[in-house]
This record gives sequence, C-alpha cells and structure tokens, in this order.
Amino acid sequence: MAKVLQARDLTRYYDVAQGMFKPKAQVKALAGVSFELEAGRTLAVVGESGCGKSTLARQLTLIEQPTSGSLLLDGQDAAQAGSAELKAMRRKVQMVFQNPYGSLNPRQKIGDQLSEPLLINTDLSAKAREEKVRAMMTRVGLRPEHYFRYPHMFSGGQRQRIAIARAMMLNPKIVVADEPTSALDVSIQAQVLNLFMDLQEEFNTAYVFISHNLAVVEHVANDLMVMYLGRAVEVGDKSRVYGRPLHPYTQALLSATPSIHPEDRRIKIKIEGELPSPLNPPSGCAFHKRCPHAAERCKVEVPQLRELDARMVACHRAEEING
Ligand SMILES: Nc1ncnc2c1ncn2[C@@H]1O[C@H](COP(=O)(O)OP(=O)(O)OP(=O)(O)O)[C@@H](O)[C@H]1O
Ligand SMILES: [Mg+2]
Repeated sequence: MAKVLQARDLTRYYDVAQGMFKPKAQVKALAGVSFELEAGRTLAVVGESGCGKSTLARQLTLIEQPTSGSLLLDGQDAAQAGSAELKAMRRKVQMVFQNPYGSLNPRQKIGDQLSEPLLINTDLSAKAREEKVRAMMTRVGLRPEHYFRYPHMFSGGQRQRIAIARAMMLNPKIVVADEPTSALDVSIQAQVLNLFMDLQEEFNTAYVFISHNLAVVEHVANDLMVMYLGRAVEVGDKSRVYGRPLHPYTQALLSATPSIHPEDRRIKIKIEGELPSPLNPPSGCAFHKRCPHAAERCKVEVPQLRELDARMVACHRAEEING
C-alpha cells in the first residue's frame, strides 16, 4: 500500500510573550511526533485539550511550517518543495474543522463555494463544474435545491456535509478532520461519521481523524495515536490498543470512556490533577505527576516510544504494570 503521509519527529514550538519585563518563553506544542499513514486508512489522534492535536493538524495540512522534523506528503518532502510544488501538495491534503460555519463564506451560495476549488485548480467549463458540484452534493446527502442556498440556511449537520464535500472536491489523498463531529448532536454525529467512512471507501482517501472522544474514534479508526503534552505516548492498531492499553494514560482515558465495552467495565482509573502546561512541562515523563505507577526513574528520564506487544508505547514501566 502506498504511504501517503510520513511524519518524522515533527515539532512545533511557539514563542509567547510573558509580560513586559520577562523574556519570551517557548511553548512546545508539538514535541516530536512520528507516524505513517497509508491510502484508504484512518489514523485517529486522541488526547486531552491542549495536548497538541490541532497543532499537529496545522503541520500536516501545510498551514504552518514545523519547527523541526520532516513531513512527506504522497512521497514528497514538504521542506524541499518550491512554491509551485507546495501549491500542488496543498491540493492533496484537505482539512475539515470542528465548526464548519467558520470556514464557509456567509455571503456566497453553497454551489459557488463548492465549485471554487474547481475554478481555481482545474480548467473545467462552468457547466462541467456545476455537474461535478451537484454530483458531490448528492454524494454527501444534500439536495439539488441546496445549490442556491446560503450557509445560514442549513443545520449544523448539513453544514458539516458541505464542508466535507468541499474538502473532497479535488479528490485529495489525505483529509485531516479536527473534531469534525464534536459540535453536532449525538444522533447527527453517527450519520456524519458514516459519511466519512463511505467516502473513504469510495475514494480511498487517508484520514487523520482528531478527537478528544475515544468512543467517536472507535468507529472510524484503523490505528490510534494517543497524545500527551505534545508527544505520542501510545500508537498502534486500534483493536490492540483498545483491547489492551499499555500506557497508564491510555488506560485512564479508556476507563473514563463509558460507552466503550460496557460489558467489561474496567475499574475506573481517575486521572488526577490538571494537564500541565507545555510552557513548563514536568521533567522526565510528562505524565509522571498524574500517573498512579510513577517511580523515581519516571521523574528524570523521558521515556521514548518503543515496541511492545505489537504497538509502540512510551512508558518506562509498561512491562511491570501490565504483568
Ligand atoms: N499560535 C500559538 N501560539 C502560542 N501557543 C499556542 C499556539 N497554538 C497553540 N498553542 C499552545 O499549544 C498547545 C497545544 O494546542 P492545540 O490547540 O494544538 O491543542 P489541542 O490538542 O488541539 O486542544 P483542543 O482539544 O482544546 O483543541 C496549547 O498549550 C496551546 O495553548
Ligand atoms: Mg484542537
């Protein structure tokens, strides 16, 4: 299978002012993330608010440039690309946001908004563009008369369908969806998730699917990456990670997700304390202050991702605590 996305040790730091008389500080929003993604597959990225999910999304979609690390898109290195090549690469990776309202133009008819990418990137005639737009609208479950409507005339679920249609217009290799169903009613969420899966099957698109909700991603993911404070702490096949999480943080997240496997209710592990700030991350393992299994070593030595039980995990004590 073709690898459409290869991220190696991606980092993104932000300089932030701390007030007038203090030196600038650096937020390590993304502290070194690596993964590979094949065509037609879905990598779900989960973790608490502030762990760097959207920062990762902005690097993958070439909205920002990483501080360091490399990113290969459809085999091509983003850092080596000239401006014309970058433009072509941007077409291959599209993004769907949590709030589609923010990404739609309130004053432009939906049909026109959907045909805009075709107008800019192809030399299709007006008639051919309209045909393509209408076909895609039908494909995502919108009706023909919606073509002439404005964004405010749609429900939240319909607007997200429009955003998905727009992302798919140029048949991208990769779609990065950042909390695409988090703002929707539960009943609508399932429909939109099914739409994502149907489109993937039809177009063989690769998805990076970001969510803080493990119950949501369980339906769509092939692989799962659990992030904590800018790093991946556990990465692997979804069934393996859900079935037997090895990192204490993954264990805590899963035990706090009630709708998953209600039949084998795990003992609830409470995550103590707040997520620390990436401005001032704890020494050693960033999770050690909240971890029920933390030992001396965890306070001083940063655990690296390593292979264990057919997935990657970054925990010094993974063997001991999982018996
Ligand atoms: N442009 C920026 N300047 C400074 N700090 C930033 C910037 N963008 C993000 N951050 C910080 O980087 C960290 C990661 O933010 P990010 O938005 O990637 O988290 P997230 O996992 O998407 O969170 P959420 O689930 O709330 O969307 C946060 O501490 C955030 O405050
Ligand atoms: Mg975010």
